Amino acid sequence: MKIIDLHTHVLPGVDDGADCLQTALEMLKNADASHVIALAATPHCNCPNMPRSNFYGEEYMKRLGLLRREAAAAGIEAKILTGMELRAGDNLKLILEQGWALGLNGTRYLLTEFRPDVSLAACRESLQLILEHNYIPLVAHPERYGAIWQNPAAVNEWLDMGCHVQITGGSILGKFGRDSWVAADYLIKNDLVAIAASDAHGLRYRTNNLISVYDHLSIHYSPRYAKMLLLQNPYAICQNETL
Ligand SMILES: [Fe+2]
Repeated sequence: MKIIDLHTHVLPGVDDGADCLQTALEMLKNADASHVIALAATPHCNCPNMPRSNFYGEEYMKRLGLLRREAAAAGIEAKILTGMELRAGDNLKLILEQGWALGLNGTRYLLTEFRPDVSLAACRESLQLILEHNYIPLVAHPERYGAIWQNPAAVNEWLDMGCHVQITGGSILGKFGRDSWVAADYLIKNDLVAIAASDAHGLRYRTNNLISVYDHLSIHYSPRYAKMLLLQNPYAICQNETL
């Protein structure tokens, strides 16, 4: 088993993920133990109530470089890739025009989140704007948005536009409640999902242990599907390939 995890909050001290370097290194050790061969450090970008905005630039690369060096010194084997979880808001156009967005592993794939109570109309408008700026939106955990609980089939429209979808391992396992679990099941069964990821924030509640997710997908859907969502499609994204 090999896993590539393209959504983690492992970069320390910049959002509500790893609170310090020690926590980050423990998370990375967990990743190694979970057969994760590569993971993207995707801090919340442009998200309110976070310690930093985490726009792409010198500061982000400096912090990532430090984490990579510390991880290497600690014997961590998982490769740490670049990325961000961009919160699409009123200033989205400015962020895209200024080059403050950063795709996963430097590719066209931009991990994009919305506020939980976002409307489908607002989603559509933001996704269109991102596409116009030559990024491919990878929508983070739509199964956790109220608008998708009401109308999960709306994801079809995003795929038709050229977007893709990431679901969170915890949702598949029912850790975010029944609504998210039902929506995740719908998205999986209707073949609307490109990848699954941990969205790991720390060592207790939202962790980067994806083995149980891999096993759950293998048992309840199929082993081939588990491999597609946790290795093959994440790898293709890292290579900037078309899904
Ligand atoms: Fe996240």
